[in-house]
Amino acid sequence: MWISALLPLPVSALRDSLKLIKEEFIMSKPMQRRDFMMRSALTAGGVLLAANQVLAQKGKEFQGYYDVDEELFANINRVAKPEEKTTLEKKHAPVIEAPDKVKSGEPFEVTITVGEIVHPMGATHYIQMVQLYVGNEPAGRVDFSHQFNEPRASFTLKTDKPVTLVVREYCNLHGLWESRKQIALAD
Ligand SMILES: [Fe+2]
Repeated sequence: MWISALLPLPVSALRDSLKLIKEEFIMSKPMQRRDFMMRSALTAGGVLLAANQVLAQKGKEFQGYYDVDEELFANINRVAKPEEKTTLEKKHAPVIEAPDKVKSGEPFEVTITVGEIVHPMGATHYIQMVQLYVGNEPAGRVDFSHQFNEPRASFTLKTDKPVTLVVREYCNLHGLWESRKQIALAD
């Protein structure tokens, strides 16, 4: 019923036309069938090629518009030389404020700021989240709103052994960044 509503032709006429096409071009004449298959393959190839060109153009537009260094998204980024930080590193490497030594089992505060030069929080460029690990164990995460947050978060931890704090943050334009801090036990 819906076909007849959409097309001016009655369903029976459409059915007859399709049958004629099938007999003429596909079933009854092997040479024409081969032609049909060849044309179908070429058409499908053309569609795929066109789709790839569209995707490639979109990729180029994206890169041009945001001017993103894609290498930053391929790795976890860390400060290369602590004594010679670049501006990019100063804005993105998380700064971990925590005691060097803590008493076994007693709570202590860890405050994380992104970064040494506090990273901007704008609509198109902002810090999306920070994650805190104690060694390999997740120990906290905060997701930020660029409208309401500064890129800073605090956590309360406790440990009965020396640990390495690992902090990661994600910038929407500059990828994943990590800093670490050793925590020892007080005597
Ligand atoms: Fe950034």
